[in-house]
Amino acid sequence: MTGDIEAGARHPGDMDPEAYRHAARRVADWTADYLRDVERFPVLSLAVPGSVRGGLPASPPQHTEPLDAILTDIEQLLIPATTHWQSPGFMAYFASTGSAPGILGETLAAAFNVNAMLWRTAPAATELEQVTLDWLRQMVGLPEPLFGVINDTASSSTLYALAAAREAQSDLRIRELGMAGRPDLPRMRYYASDEAHSSVEKAGIVLGIGRDGLRRIPVDERFRMDPVALRQAIHEDVAAGIRPFAVVATAGTTSTTSVDPIPAIAALCEQHGLWLHVDAAYGGAAAIAPELRWVLDGAERADSIVVNPHKWLFTPIDCSVLWTRRPEVLRAAFSIVPEYLTTTEGSDQDAPNLMDYGTSLGRRMRALKLWMVIRHFGTDALAQRIREHCEYASTLARWVSTEHDFELLAPAPLSVVCLRAHPPGLDDPGTLNALNQRIVERINAAGQFFVSHTKLRGDYAIRVAFGNLRQEQRHVRGIMSALRGAIDDVG
Ligand SMILES: Cc1ncc(COP(=O)(O)O)c(C=O)c1O
Repeated sequence: MTGDIEAGARHPGDMDPEAYRHAARRVADWTADYLRDVERFPVLSLAVPGSVRGGLPASPPQHTEPLDAILTDIEQLLIPATTHWQSPGFMAYFASTGSAPGILGETLAAAFNVNAMLWRTAPAATELEQVTLDWLRQMVGLPEPLFGVINDTASSSTLYALAAAREAQSDLRIRELGMAGRPDLPRMRYYASDEAHSSVEKAGIVLGIGRDGLRRIPVDERFRMDPVALRQAIHEDVAAGIRPFAVVATAGTTSTTSVDPIPAIAALCEQHGLWLHVDAAYGGAAAIAPELRWVLDGAERADSIVVNPHKWLFTPIDCSVLWTRRPEVLRAAFSIVPEYLTTTEGSDQDAPNLMDYGTSLGRRMRALKLWMVIRHFGTDALAQRIREHCEYASTLARWVSTEHDFELLAPAPLSVVCLRAHPPGLDDPGTLNALNQRIVERINAAGQFFVSHTKLRGDYAIRVAFGNLRQEQRHVRGIMSALRGAIDDVG
């Protein structure tokens, strides 16, 4: 990339505004080309560890460098070491597309650069966040009242939700006295299925509940939490003098996108006074399509819910929504106001001080990009894209089940398919696992697609995830022929 930007053109303290205008146009052009041409790059970076570090100077420049030199390094060093999440060939993990309106929202948020710690420090960001999350609440069909905040990730949102759940056990006075060295404290326990995300477990580590404080509940044949086993576990724990305090149900598990039976789990939580947190980080967005709204059935009874617009709502990472029906408990868990942050506003939900609802003081204006995504597409188009992703998954699942040497390893209720090659007569589990691992490596090395894997009941599964905004039918056909080609090559 060449150009005539003079990085030396400077305004006192910053780039000259006209030089910035010129540079911003260059970067906008560059990103437009990147998004248009993203399919020409290998989806999974072929970089070897150290390649970026080795190509960059070990010390910072002492004097100004031109933008051209920086952009050249981006093209020559960073792009080859980039795994292209923006590519429609990206079918690993869960998709995370930064759509154009989302990218524009990020740009504006960086330009404003407000810190939304207090209403006073960012009235627009604070209130826009409330309005946008109320729109999103309506889009996924959840009833009022629901207070929402945007965090960086679902891992943070779930951590905060479980901190609130712990705080709800107010007689234990953990906020004031902590948990260490307290013989008066019962062992505490929360529950999630065998398929729940590792962030649920990590939250227990951070909160001092410990990994032992999470009891994993078995799943049924469709990878959904077994509520009978949950009830049994709660009863056993209570009988043993352990204090249950929360259940995490998942709407769209990481491996197979299974949806736990939230109504039955909610009933148990209500009966035992447990906080119900619903991890809908991936699956929640599906509820925007009316026919998929069932994924959040029962979530209206939850104390807290997490949905990540940065997964399946075309909003650039990071953007994780945490809603709660009990904002006063979340606030009681986290609010601490040093003198320098005291203000006259911030005492009610019309003008909340968002620093009160999590560990971070400083907060970015994350709502802007989500608001722009929703306004640009409108709810109908968002629902349509999500619907199409699910149709792509159904098409692939149907194809797999008709091929004699492939099989499905799980139902595909949303946009992800778990499958494996299983040639007739080849039944040794180790050999099958090795074969499927080779297929994944083969597909990923070819560069057109990037798929990931999981283990289901010990079997290595190839995991194909749709959800990229730019995917089309041709990508579904493409991954089918990549699977066919790979098994023919390595089988
Ligand atoms: C179901 C589920 N919950 C939570 C997470 C964690 O998400 P984040 O990266 O936003 O912390 C994931 C990640 O894929 C997930 O699949």
